[in-house]
Amino acid sequence: MDIAQILLFASLLLPLRASAGDYENSNAGGGDTIVFTTLGRSRYEFDIFALSTSHPPSISGELRITDGESVNFNGYFPSPSPALISLLPDESLIQPEDSSPLHLIYVTERNGTSSIYYDLIYRGDSDSKSKRRSMLETTSRVQVPLLSNANRRSGTTVNSFKDKPSLSGEFLVYVSTHENSGEPRTSWTAVYSTELRTGLTRRLTPRGVADFSPAVSPSGNWTAVASYGERGWTGEVAELSTDIYVFLTRDGTHRVKVVEHGGWPCWVDDSTLYFHRRSDDGWISVYRAILPENGRLTTKSVTIQRVTPPGLHAFTPATSPNNHDFIAVATRRPGIDYRHVELFDLKRNEFIELTRLVAPKSHHLNPFLSPDSSTVGYHSCRGEANGRRSPLLFLENMQTTKTDLSLFRIDGSFPSFSPSGDRIAYVKMPGVYVVKPDGSDQREVYSGMAFSTAWDPVRPGTVYTSSGPTFATERTEVDIISIDVDAADKSSSVRRLTTNGKNNAFPWPSPDGKWIVFRSGRSGHKNLYLMDAEKGEAGGLRRLTEGEWSDTMSSWSPDGEWIAFASDRERPGSGSFELFLIHPNGTGLRKLIQSGSGGRTNHPIFSPDSKSLVFTSDYAGISAEPISNPHHFQPYGDIFTVKLDGSGLRRLTHNSYEDGTPAWAPRFIDPRDVLLRRKNDSSCAFDDCHWLNKSPTLKGQKISC
Ligand SMILES: *[C@@H]1O[C@H](CO)[C@@H](O)[C@H](O)[C@H]1NC(C)=O
Ligand SMILES: *[C@@H]1O[C@H](CO)[C@@H](O)[C@H](O)[C@H]1NC(C)=O
Ligand SMILES: *[C@@H]1O[C@H](CO)[C@@H](O)[C@H](O)[C@H]1NC(C)=O
Ligand SMILES: *[C@@H]1O[C@H](CO)[C@@H](O)[C@H](O)[C@H]1NC(C)=O
Repeated sequence: MDIAQILLFASLLLPLRASAGDYENSNAGGGDTIVFTTLGRSRYEFDIFALSTSHPPSISGELRITDGESVNFNGYFPSPSPALISLLPDESLIQPEDSSPLHLIYVTERNGTSSIYYDLIYRGDSDSKSKRRSMLETTSRVQVPLLSNANRRSGTTVNSFKDKPSLSGEFLVYVSTHENSGEPRTSWTAVYSTELRTGLTRRLTPRGVADFSPAVSPSGNWTAVASYGERGWTGEVAELSTDIYVFLTRDGTHRVKVVEHGGWPCWVDDSTLYFHRRSDDGWISVYRAILPENGRLTTKSVTIQRVTPPGLHAFTPATSPNNHDFIAVATRRPGIDYRHVELFDLKRNEFIELTRLVAPKSHHLNPFLSPDSSTVGYHSCRGEANGRRSPLLFLENMQTTKTDLSLFRIDGSFPSFSPSGDRIAYVKMPGVYVVKPDGSDQREVYSGMAFSTAWDPVRPGTVYTSSGPTFATERTEVDIISIDVDAADKSSSVRRLTTNGKNNAFPWPSPDGKWIVFRSGRSGHKNLYLMDAEKGEAGGLRRLTEGEWSDTMSSWSPDGEWIAFASDRERPGSGSFELFLIHPNGTGLRKLIQSGSGGRTNHPIFSPDSKSLVFTSDYAGISAEPISNPHHFQPYGDIFTVKLDGSGLRRLTHNSYEDGTPAWAPRFIDPRDVLLRRKNDSSCAFDDCHWLNKSPTLKGQKISC
């Protein structure tokens, strides 16, 4: 089982109840540091590429148009409006006699936070057929952050997810998560427009509703979105059961549902929309919706036609204004493991392959067309590039709105800090590693399959972990071990504390070093137990919780008063987990937080002052259509903190990834002290959405992916 699967279930075993008003009261007092894991994030780095739509495609014609920094995705080719041009440092940059630069608006994740950038790209000489993909560089670029830390005219907070930008004349239209939905397990994703010249920002999505994947009509008058309307997210992790709504881009009014069941809309003209949905035959296909020119706009007045045939999945359509000849789509064809961009000829009803002929063994995502249809853009792995800098840092600092909180994404899972904060233990599947907080002195201390780490507060260099397979049944053997990470002889560094052959995991020592709390499946159900930290279960065992449900992921408060854990006790076996607190003597049991109904909240870890917890939760729902994302087993999970009385809930991460397994450092780690230690390989390896590997009509035949 690889790490992707591990974390998947970590969140499956992942629920909150806090008032929205509490939200802004930060509980992360001066000098806090939190480290967490993002599932699979280290497996890819994206740039946006452009390719001519003329056929056949020429390999040398593929141009990387973003700068090789960080993760760049979901591009848009604007028709440059005067307001956009006015943002350039020098408007003479686009003289008419210039070799018409390419204008690109896109999302970029710089310093761990998403921004929307506008790049003006001057094309390099790419006539030589012998040039390799990686050598195709743009000659120069002008880069203007439209919405980012550097440009706060919009007045929106820095730490939020931004997505799917498009331009309507003077207005940038995009998705942002900067406003709390106020409801547990409800997406914060809403569509906004920002006037480029003034930064004036207006919310276009009604309160209490989440909108995804906005697209502006050619006239700019209308915006279409995928939305649940009032219904809300019910926990889907694959195709969303969204509907398509349109509203006036100007102010969000005249909002009407035009299509039941559909996502990722795009416009050819102001009355023709394309979108994707799963067809009755099981294939995800592109559809056309024709809105009535006159008369009342309702779902009944809209004509819907299937566009792409069964036999392959075709999704995330892209159009250009008034081009009724072809659209661009991403496809998954049976027998082909990669997602590719193709054109679909609307007259001949046939596909025209593009990227598979250029880079067959790479995923190509979310195509978009230039206004004149001559160029298709998409994002893809950066590839092995000459001197391109990899953004993959071992400890990546994330910009937050608070200067006294430092937040890091670690390239590993289950991090935990030594008592003095001078070392971090973490898990790679397989293996347990120790590293200094600055990213140096990384060593493997245990080579077996293990998960969760916790440092002994009194025995120097002692780390506890669970050795064995993750997400196994109650009866599977998983044992609590301690590792002396400083032992000269690795063969004698491990002590086994449980030996009963049942599933024992998530050990956490008491602050006096006498006890270890852990979960065990020995009764047939996963409940919490305490055992002697020195002698293990042989030294005596005390049962802390009992019931036919799962209590798991226990941690002990530094002041010794509380044990926090995740439990599905309110709905055993439902996959819904909530956070509970109990005193080590078994009294005082109470629920701390619940993420709506059916929600998942997991991995609670105490702050050094024992007054708060950091944890992972689906409290903020999902932030993008999962099909438009690189592969995440579950496209939700953000890092939150809350006070022990349930107040002060605060969201720390905003992205469309799965974030989990946080740790709260005993002392502040200044981002400036962390080495920018980049991973050595810039390999890009991730699987496409597992649910796209299925071929619905080939009954009984397995399509290998
Ligand atoms: C990231 O942050 C560092 C330190 O604040 C800064 O020097 C650097 O330019 C930032 N990188 C990007 C891509 O914004
Ligand atoms: C867009 O709106 C403007 C102003 O209301 C109107 O004049 C124009 O005809 C509209 N364009 C389309 C294509 O509907
Ligand atoms: C259990 O522990 C809590 C917290 O330390 C304490 O307040 C309480 O008095 C204890 N109860 C018993 C019955 O020992
Ligand atoms: C990183 O890669 C370079 C070139 O392949 C190699 O020379 C170097 O030893 C590697 N460094 C580490 C720390 O693996």
